[in-house]
Amino acid sequence: MLGLFTDRLLICVDKIDEQHIKLFNAIEQFREACNDRDWDEVIRVFNFLKVYFENHFKDEEEYMVKYMYSGYEEHKAEHNLFLRKIYAFDSVLKMNYISITKIMEMNEFFTENFVMHLSEVDSKLGVFLNDKL
Ligand SMILES: [Fe+2]
Ligand SMILES: [Fe+2]
Repeated sequence: MLGLFTDRLLICVDKIDEQHIKLFNAIEQFREACNDRDWDEVIRVFNFLKVYFENHFKDEEEYMVKYMYSGYEEHKAEHNLFLRKIYAFDSVLKMNYISITKIMEMNEFFTENFVMHLSEVDSKLGVFLNDKL
């Protein structure tokens, strides 16, 4: 369970923090929909997450390019890996049946990898941007 968003996860760049909180809450909704076996809601939240993650990653990458962040390539590679996983799930969801195992796998993926990316990768970008903004 993700629980509540804690201050520990803030990187102190308002625009990015707001997006992280939205993503965090949506992942929590995704988890609840999985627990309730509410597949329509699972698909609705997943589609939201897909688009929101794409835009969020783009925004972070724009900051990195604009301020010539030295960890750009590495950070972008992490985003690409994350998106590849989302697109793989997306094609599974577009098939005509719901695989509970796959959905539980997605649930686990979002829960574990999002907080990890935030606390290990985005936090470094935050420290860098706090100096620039
Ligand atoms: Fe990131
Ligand atoms: Fe992020």
